[in-house]
Amino acid sequence: MIRFDQVSYKYSPHQKDVIKNLNIELEDGSFHFLCGASGAGKTTIFRMMYMDLLPTDGNLSIFGRQVNALSRDEIAIFRRKMGVVFQDGGLLNHLNVRENVSLPLTLHGKPSSQQEKCIDEIIDWVGLSDKKNEYPATLSGGEKQRVGIAKAVVNRPKLLIADEPSGNVDEVMAKRIMYLFTELNKHGTTVLVATHDKSLISAFDYPSLYLENGIITRSAKRWRAA
Ligand SMILES: Nc1ncnc2c1ncn2[C@@H]1O[C@H](COP(=O)(O)OP(=O)(O)OP(=O)(O)O)[C@@H](O)[C@H]1O
Ligand SMILES: [Mg+2]
Repeated sequence: MIRFDQVSYKYSPHQKDVIKNLNIELEDGSFHFLCGASGAGKTTIFRMMYMDLLPTDGNLSIFGRQVNALSRDEIAIFRRKMGVVFQDGGLLNHLNVRENVSLPLTLHGKPSSQQEKCIDEIIDWVGLSDKKNEYPATLSGGEKQRVGIAKAVVNRPKLLIADEPSGNVDEVMAKRIMYLFTELNKHGTTVLVATHDKSLISAFDYPSLYLENGIITRSAKRWRAA
C-alpha cells in the first residue's frame, strides 16, 4: 500500500507548498488516474513516490515503510520493485533501445538468455521492433516515450507510476499502452497514471483523483463527461 498522510512539499524554503496536506491511499492492486492541470503537482507526487524528493512535511509510506526512514540501499531495493514512466522518457542516451529496455532485468540479475523473449515481446507491443538498435537521440518524442514504457513494465513491477504515458503518442497507441497497464494490474501491479486525456479516462473504468494546486479536490469512481 502507498499512503500519503498530510504530505506537503515545497521546492525551496522561500517557496509556497506545491503539494499541501495531501492524503491519498493506494491499495495494493488498485488502479487510479491522477488528473490535474499543468502545474497542479502531478510530477511532484510521482517524484516523491520514486523517493527522488522526500516530503517536506507529513508522512509518506511506500510498501508499508516510511520513506524518511529508508537507507540509500533500501531506497535502491524499493526502486527496483517500481516501474516508472517519466514525462521525458527517462532513457540513458548511451544505450540503444534494447539495452535501455533490458536495464531493469539486468539490475535484477536475470540471466540474459531468459531476457531475450520478454524484451522482444514488449518492444513489439509498443511497436518498435524495427528500432531495437537505435539510440535515443535518433528517436521521435513518442518513440522515446514508448521505450520508456517498455522499460517500466518489462520487469512486471509491484508498483507502476506513469507520468503522462500517452502525452506524445496517437490515440491507438495510447489505448494499447493502457491495455498493457491493465494486464499488469490484473496480475497484481498497483498502477497510478497521470493524464490530461479525458477520452482515455472515460474509456477505462478506473477511479480518478483530481489535483488542483497541490490539493486533491475530488475523487470520482469514474470520470463522466459533463
Ligand atoms: N524543480 C523545481 N523547482 C521549483 N519549482 C518547481 C520545480 N518543479 C516543479 N516546480 C513547480 O511545482 C509546481 C508543480 O509542478 P509539477 O511539475 O509537479 O506539475 P504537473 O502537474 O506535473 O504539471 P504538468 O502537467 O505540466 O506536467 C509548479 O508550480 C512548478 O512550477
Ligand atoms: Mg508533470
